[in-house]
Order: sequence, then C-alpha cells, then structure tokens
Amino acid sequence: MNVLGVHVGHDSSAAIVVDGRLVADAAEERFSRVKHDAGLPVRAIASCLEIARLDIADIDVVAVPTELDLWPLNDLFDLFGGPHEQSPEMARAALAAERLGGGGLVHPPPRRPVWARRYPLASRTDLVKVGHHLAHAASAHYTSGYRGRQLIVTLDGIGDGLSGTVWRGEGGRIEPLERFDRTGSLGWFYGNVTEALGWRHGDEEGTTMGLAAYGDPGAARGALQGFHPRFEDGALADPHEFSAIHAWHERGAYQWHSPEAAGIAEVVARFGRENVAAEAQRVLEEQVAQIVYPWLEREGTRALACAGGVFLNVKVNQRIWASGRIDRQHIYPNPGDGGLAAGAALHAYHAANPAEQPREIEHVYLGPAYSTDQIGDLLSARHLDSERRDDLPELVAGMLAENQVVGWFQGRMESGPRALGARSILMSPNRAENKDLLNGRVKYREAFRPYCPSIAAECAGDYLKRARPERFMTTSFEVQDGKWHDIPAVVHVDGTVRPQTVDREANPSYWDLIDAFGSLTGEHAILNTSFNVRGEPIICHPRDAIRAFYDTGLDCLVMVDHVLTKPRSVARRRAPARLGS
Ligand SMILES: [Fe+2]
Repeated sequence: MNVLGVHVGHDSSAAIVVDGRLVADAAEERFSRVKHDAGLPVRAIASCLEIARLDIADIDVVAVPTELDLWPLNDLFDLFGGPHEQSPEMARAALAAERLGGGGLVHPPPRRPVWARRYPLASRTDLVKVGHHLAHAASAHYTSGYRGRQLIVTLDGIGDGLSGTVWRGEGGRIEPLERFDRTGSLGWFYGNVTEALGWRHGDEEGTTMGLAAYGDPGAARGALQGFHPRFEDGALADPHEFSAIHAWHERGAYQWHSPEAAGIAEVVARFGRENVAAEAQRVLEEQVAQIVYPWLEREGTRALACAGGVFLNVKVNQRIWASGRIDRQHIYPNPGDGGLAAGAALHAYHAANPAEQPREIEHVYLGPAYSTDQIGDLLSARHLDSERRDDLPELVAGMLAENQVVGWFQGRMESGPRALGARSILMSPNRAENKDLLNGRVKYREAFRPYCPSIAAECAGDYLKRARPERFMTTSFEVQDGKWHDIPAVVHVDGTVRPQTVDREANPSYWDLIDAFGSLTGEHAILNTSFNVRGEPIICHPRDAIRAFYDTGLDCLVMVDHVLTKPRSVARRRAPARLGS
C-alpha cells in the first residue's frame, strides 16, 4: 500500500509510506530555498515519488493533515471534475467562472492550464483527511516502536483550531483523551515572547530558548502572568484570550504578529531580555508538566510520545525526562508542521491496516541523495577542481583536528530541522573560541546560541549524564562533570548539550569520521551544525553546497568522495601551529 502524505501550510512537505514504512520525507523549503515555505509542495512531491520509485498513478491514498477544506489541493491534484470531493471554494470558483462567462479574474481557477496539471489523481486513489493534531500524534506514535500503552501529547501554536491534544496509543490504535482550543496555546505564548524579544514568531523560538539560559528565572518570576494559559491536573484551568494573531505571506512563508507582543515588550524593558526569556521558559516547562504528568498517571503508563512545534523545545523534553516519571520518551524527530505529511500518511496506513503495530523509526535520512558521478558532472560544468579520496574519515578528522571548518555532504538529506551528519557543517568541539569563529565565518548567528555535538553512541555515557540513545537531537542533557572543558564549543552556558548519538549502522561514514577524530584527539565527539547560512533552509542539492562553500568561510567541502578546498585553507593546514592565533 502506497500512501502519499501532503502538507500545505507552514513548512509545506511531502512524505511517502510504503507498506507502513516511511521511505521518503522532504520539505518544500529545501528545494525552493525559502525557509518554512508555505507554498504547494510541488518539488517535494516529485522528489518523494522519485525516491520511492513510484508514479502518482501508483499511489493508493493521498493523506492530508487537515480537516479543513483545502482548495490548493486542486492546484496539486487537479481534482476539479474528477471523482474526488469538490470543495465549496472550488464549487464557488466554478460558479463564478460560469457567471463571468466572457472574461474576468476567477480565483482559484477551477481548471488548470496544461503546465499546471501536476499530479492528476487516478480515480482509484483515495483522498483522506487526517486532523492536524491527529497527524502530529500519528507521527509520534507510529514511529515510536512501542506496542504497549503510550501517552501521546501534541502541543503547538494552532492547527485545525486546536493548540494541543492528548491521546492514548495502544496496540496500533490512537484514541483521543483531551483537546485544547486556541485559548490553551502554549506555542502562541512562547511565540509572542519571541516576537517581543525581536525575533520571528514561528521560527526563532529556539533563540529565545538559547537566551533563557543566561537569565535568572527568579528575577522576572510571575512577570508574564496574564500572557499565557494555565493548566492544572491535565486540564486547561485558566484559558488565555489571545488577541487576534495576524498572519500573512511574505516571500512564500507565513509570518505572524501578535499585538500582545507589545505588552510583553514592556515586561522585557522592565526586567531585561535574558530574565524574561528565562521566565518564559520556566512557564512553558511548568505548564507542559501540568499537562503531561497527570495524564501519565491517569493512563498508568511510563511511555510518552510527543509531537507539535512546542516539542522542538529541547529543554522541555529534558525536564520531562529528568522528572523520572517516564522510562520511554519518543519525540518525533520532525515535530513541527514539517512532520505533518509523514504523520498523515502513517495514520492513513494504520487506519487501513489496524492490526499493524508501531515501528521504530531508524533514521531520518529520507530526502534525496546525489551520486559521486552527478557531483563530478556538476563540478566540472562549473570548472571546479576536486580531489577524489578514499580515506575520508582520516583526512577530514585531520582537518578538524587542525581546526578547519568542513562542509559535510553525504548520502540522503535529513528530514526535519536538525542536521544529523548528511548535510552538516563540522568543526572541532575542543576549543571554546570555535563558537565565535564559526559565527564570524559561516553561521552569522547570535553569540549566545549554543552549538551541538555528534557523539559516537558507544561513548555517550562519557559525555552525558543519564545518557541514552538520542539519535535525533530532540533532548538536551547535562554534560558529565569534568567534560565541559574537553568540548567547550558545544556546551551551553548552563552546562547542557543537545547531542546526536551516532550509531555505526545508521550512518557508517559519519561514525567512521567521529571514530577517526577520537583516535586523533581523544574526543569521540565533533561539533555538528546544520549546513546552511543564517536565515536559509538546510542545503539539499550539491549546487546549494557549492554556493554556501564559496559564500562563507568554510575551509573544505566534502561531497561524497569529492574534496574541495580553498588556497588559504590549504596554507593554514600546512602551518597548524599558528591556528587560532
Ligand atoms: Fe502543528
């Protein structure tokens, strides 16, 4: 059974599930190069079909993660006049077209011109709607690999009129327990604080979280009362009447503005940015705890699965894990709306196959890959010289040990917001100044934001307290005493790290590199940040990598076995003693 999931909205995306297995997943932003692209995922669908070696005619079910009437689906699937349900908008458009007769503008156009008939659905293909939060819940549950009773919690800004839901997952089924409307939106609260701090709601909440570690939560305690909902014993005790959130499209992506941000900005002026960020983080953690813990108890389970944008907050996830109330914590690696296409597809599959149990997601290398020949052709067409090497782990480990900055492009692109060693920028974690060096030369981001390590899975316990496999960078951990000074470039000011533990089986070439770096330096950990420059999506195509290589201070670019360097980088390699001076 072939299911195509398609999400149109914030982080438009496509995913394909074949016989219950997620085989392809990609966000449109990676192809259009517009971060959080909210347009039609035309290229994401094409890429997923190519990866799965399927034609649109081979698709049994198209699953969309919304209950709403979504007229852009007509733009993708050419539904008009076909066997699939016609939306009221399309019917209105058809009527308007009829009335206009001779001419005039009709939006949306009921019939596509030939060039825009992108993926006409076969009459046998079902079109299935899955609720926004059910799709989030399905993404978490059906990739957790857990067959027993599991509590599923989804929290975000808003989707299909809901800001959060609680479910029971058991035996391959998901049943609803609780739902919160817009007045319970913790995502909006945190987004509003982010806007008040001068950053983008729906994009830069991670920056707020990074800043929070510098503040004193006691200094602004209670200062955000009146700006957030309050939960008690698993229920919404104090709904918050949010002001209208203004949303608009800017360069292809959604932007949001809340008038409440002005009120929060006054709090910021009084108590200071760091302290308000810290208070926002404290409130968020406290409120999420008031939802999650009572429901865990009520359901009598110690297994938790989460999705929704709020669970991009690794500190929330860390706090839940540190509470000791759970033995299993699974956060879907793409918890924001970019994961909805996969969630909808997984739900549609399991709805049709109720006896199927959840499978554990092994990796998220679910995007396109490019062969060494394709890359070679691209380079030669641009008159660029590369050296082909068969000793990459040793070569690149040597460069990292010499404090070079390396662009690492290998295999299939990651889905989700984290670079996990397929489209990564790598550096040594051993020097504290590397954070500033990377910011100044490549990433251009706020000095207070931490970088993250990739750690060989076998060595996780050497670096992390209460270590466990963490393949997707979804939780932070306290760093082991005494290790802070060994990997200072990847430890946050509060002594935490957000690691990726790397299994040899999941990503052999990346594991080999970390192992080689360990042999050279004694540290089986490297600094790993997403391969992009600030404000851009993670790179997808070798072309994007070449552009980023020459547009930044990267020393070296490794694409499959092609190694590109810059003359000054080579000069630096020959004189390692002067590095960092
Ligand atoms: Fe969502």
